[in-house]
Amino acid sequence: MSDSTEFDLIVIGAGPGGYVCAIRAAQLGLRVACVEKRDTLGGTCLNVGCIPSKALLQSSENFLETTHAWKDHGIVVQGVSLDLARMQARKGEVVGANVKGVEFLFKKNKVTWLKGEGRITAPGQVSVAGTAYAAKHIVIATGSESMPLPGVAVDEKTIVTSTGALELDKVPGHLVVIGGGVIGLELGSVWRRLGAEVTVVEFLDRLIPGNDGEVAKQFERVLAKQGMKFKLSTKVTAATQTETGVSLTVESVKDGKTATLDADIVLLAIGRRAFTDGLGLAEIGVKLDGRGRVETDGHFATNIPGIYAIGDVIAGPMLAHKAEDEGVALAERLAGQAGHVNYDVIPGVVYTAPEVASVGQTEEQLKAAGIAYKVGKFPFTANGRARAMAQTDGFVKVLADAKSDRILGAHILGPDAGTLIAELAMAMEFGASSEDVARICHAHPSLSEAVKEAALAVEGRALHI
Ligand code: FAD
Ligand code: NAI
Repeated sequence: MSDSTEFDLIVIGAGPGGYVCAIRAAQLGLRVACVEKRDTLGGTCLNVGCIPSKALLQSSENFLETTHAWKDHGIVVQGVSLDLARMQARKGEVVGANVKGVEFLFKKNKVTWLKGEGRITAPGQVSVAGTAYAAKHIVIATGSESMPLPGVAVDEKTIVTSTGALELDKVPGHLVVIGGGVIGLELGSVWRRLGAEVTVVEFLDRLIPGNDGEVAKQFERVLAKQGMKFKLSTKVTAATQTETGVSLTVESVKDGKTATLDADIVLLAIGRRAFTDGLGLAEIGVKLDGRGRVETDGHFATNIPGIYAIGDVIAGPMLAHKAEDEGVALAERLAGQAGHVNYDVIPGVVYTAPEVASVGQTEEQLKAAGIAYKVGKFPFTANGRARAMAQTDGFVKVLADAKSDRILGAHILGPDAGTLIAELAMAMEFGASSEDVARICHAHPSLSEAVKEAALAVEGRALHI
């Protein structure tokens, strides 16, 4: 071992969990290396997840607005056409700038990038591309991968995961999405806006499970208005490649009836699973849970001293900001500080149009837990700014404890919901009541007034409805 092979901390995986953990630990004075086998840093999120999907969501929304929305505003646009190659190239540029940004941050913070696949050979020992490295602490941040479905063989050309769906070089005639979750609805929206017929096949009788049921219902109606088709309570049992695309066999979960559904492209998006292949965890005895995730205690420690895990590879929502916050909290703990993540206040956003955003508990969860709560709701149809923007679909819903009035959850379907939810997340983090939010002066006319009005509505005193 030499100076260049010995570290205080080696993080395996440079996604939002791993790279943020590495940077924070380096800021706190630890000697840090981060192992990444991909050619670029940033993990799933920056390379094939959050960032490229948001680039295409923005471009496709711009396209749809230009072709459909401006007439109402008195703007006549003619001769609009789609240059998909340029749209995809721009997405590549956005990704490129982000991943290079992480490389710059590594250099700035003196984090060493160990290029290649990392394998833990023993506690305190990591091997990368034939070289042995030693570290006091090892963090597993190897993320997740798309969940396979028996009978549906992914080739990333006609049957694709999100990775292939971000790379299509032609708008499919008919895109069938398996799974009415976040990936299915975001990427389904991209290709719908660009002209594809989109059918979503969902096993359950609702979309975006885990989100508030009332929000999900209205969201389904809004997406249906945009032309998306849904086959709920339906499962795909087989996929056969044909000359022109794919023939899917679908079965009703309710009555077992089968039918066929022909698609040009099939997007498989039924969830993601923890990725631990090649790490050598079984050999050194790191425990996994029943779903293949690395088991950790409340402080990210595995059962093997000196080995920790964060992000998608452990339990909890598979979200970039959850992974990041875990990375920061763990780095701070390793540096002797008291890092902490509040799992009760992790917002989630679906970046469709309108957006869906939530934080805290849903009505379904509160009912199941037997917690008495009050509801305050306010629709965007009654918000002046939303009317001016012609984006009035959706509402804000605030759930507050029946006795203490403390906010327990908030759910928004509407324009810029992902930004609006931050106020309610902050309120919850500070233990605020609905009364506290209702008494904050909100600028007029702004979408945020809908948040204030929903908070007022908890006590039945909304002013504009
Ligand atoms: P990852 O980002 O998966 O990074 C793990 C890294 O580890 C990878 O780069 C991998 O190459 C590397 N690795 C694995 N094994 C090894 C090894 N043995 N040696 C070296 N390197 C290894 N989340 C949001 O919050 N907002 C969004 O808008 C959003 N959009 C998404 C869109 C899509 C299409 C997808 C697929 C996901 C999206 N997510 C989003 C989820 C988000 O990407 C993940 O929650 C996040 O990336 C998890 O971060 P992580 O650091 O745990 O793992
Ligand atoms: P998901 O868990 O959001 O949705 C999967 C859907 O597939 C569920 O509705 C489920 O009921 C359904 N399903 C499961 N098995 C099925 C089957 N056999 N047939 C039909 N439907 C089936 O998972 P998704 O969309 O794949 O996303 C994976 C992860 O990536 C999510 O956990 C999410 O947190 C993260 N992500 C986050 C984004 C964001 O924050 N904006 C964007 C994209 C992904």
